[in-house]
Amino acid sequence: MNQRPKPLVELLPLVTGLLLAICVLVGIVGLTLYLDFSGERPQHEPLAELPAKPDMPISKALMDPAGMWQAPDWASVEKEPNADEIKYGRELIANTSEYLGPNGKVKKISNGLNCQNCHLQAGTVPLGNNYSAAKSTYPKVRGRSGNSEDIRLRINGCFQRSLNGEVLANDSKEMIAMVAYMNWLGQDVAQGEKPKGAGLYELPLLDRAADYIKGKTIYERQCVTCHMVDGQGVMKADSTGYTYPPLWGEHSYNQGAGLFRMSRFAGYVRANMPFGATYENPILTDEEAWDVAAYVNSLDRPARDFPNDWPDISKKPMDHPFGPYSDEFSEEQHKFGPYQPIKAAAKK
Ligand code: HEC
Ligand code: HEC
Repeated sequence: MNQRPKPLVELLPLVTGLLLAICVLVGIVGLTLYLDFSGERPQHEPLAELPAKPDMPISKALMDPAGMWQAPDWASVEKEPNADEIKYGRELIANTSEYLGPNGKVKKISNGLNCQNCHLQAGTVPLGNNYSAAKSTYPKVRGRSGNSEDIRLRINGCFQRSLNGEVLANDSKEMIAMVAYMNWLGQDVAQGEKPKGAGLYELPLLDRAADYIKGKTIYERQCVTCHMVDGQGVMKADSTGYTYPPLWGEHSYNQGAGLFRMSRFAGYVRANMPFGATYENPILTDEEAWDVAAYVNSLDRPARDFPNDWPDISKKPMDHPFGPYSDEFSEEQHKFGPYQPIKAAAKK
């Protein structure tokens, strides 16, 4: 019995040694962590510039490329009786500003953007806001006008809103040429059909409102190099158009434009921006696309009243940013989400 305390005393040096060793270890680990996070290391590069690691893919195709719509071979245009018209149409869509912009050589009726800035490669890119369904789905009744719209009215819609400008006369050489080009592009699409990859990518909805503060960080990381900190882009040296188009401010699309709706903007950038991204190799995540859309669309741009829009307000899309609405949700929620409750209420 009285021998018990003895071994404990003998163990004391060993226990002290062990404790000391632990203290030193914790100290080293702590110091390493501290140095790691104390800003002494170089900042992380933007995600887009990191090489993709095979075990951690940065991006995944947004849609299976099989059966994707493809534009007809451009060389085959020569066979068409109206080849000159079609070619002029394509030229106008690619270089709109040169012909119809603020210094346009045909007319001065638009803000300096090219149709192609948003309808990539003259409207031929899958999920790049292409014109594959223009021939097959117009004329159609649209909620915005409450009327049947033919393709010329739809084109003029983009002139008045996306190009914050004026309309072209239906019988003008320019209108006839653009329509001829779109009809040629959609020649293989059956009447009434929308081919795979038509228009824009439809993003899954977030379960929260899009966050323009997060969006600003994404903008600064992924967009400023081309569209600039002030969002005004870069004008070509000869002022015939933009090398990098503006995203907000007086030279950008107005508040009546499709891109002013969050789902259109997010869908466009998710599959196409930063420039070089494609639906097969996207760079942004869904969340980043929604948040950067919120940032850009929360900044100033031309306001323009279209008093005849939406004669039936119940037809407004979930993300139409201006009231009145046929439901109880606020303008703020219609603009930035969350959209699920709005959709659920509309279903009832
Ligand atoms: C600032 C961006 C922007 C510019 C510039 C722009 N558009 Fe659009 N356009 C859109 C958006 C967004 C849509 C709607 C896409 C959707 O809802 O899927 C659209 C839709 C269209 C459609 C309907 C396509 C369909 O299948 O329903 C046509 C046609 C069109 N634009 C023609 C033009 C023409 C011609 C020009 C140049 C004069 C032009 N757009 C310039 C953004 C733009
Ligand atoms: C490497 C340069 C580059 C980067 C980075 C870039 N863009 Fe663009 N962006 C372009 C170019 C070029 C166009 C016009 C495309 C064309 O005409 O072919 C464009 C067009 C656009 C348009 C449609 C035209 C307009 O002015 O409204 C939007 C919207 C857009 N970009 C958003 C973004 C967003 C958001 C980011 C960041 C996530 C981004 N871009 C990053 C080069 C870039």
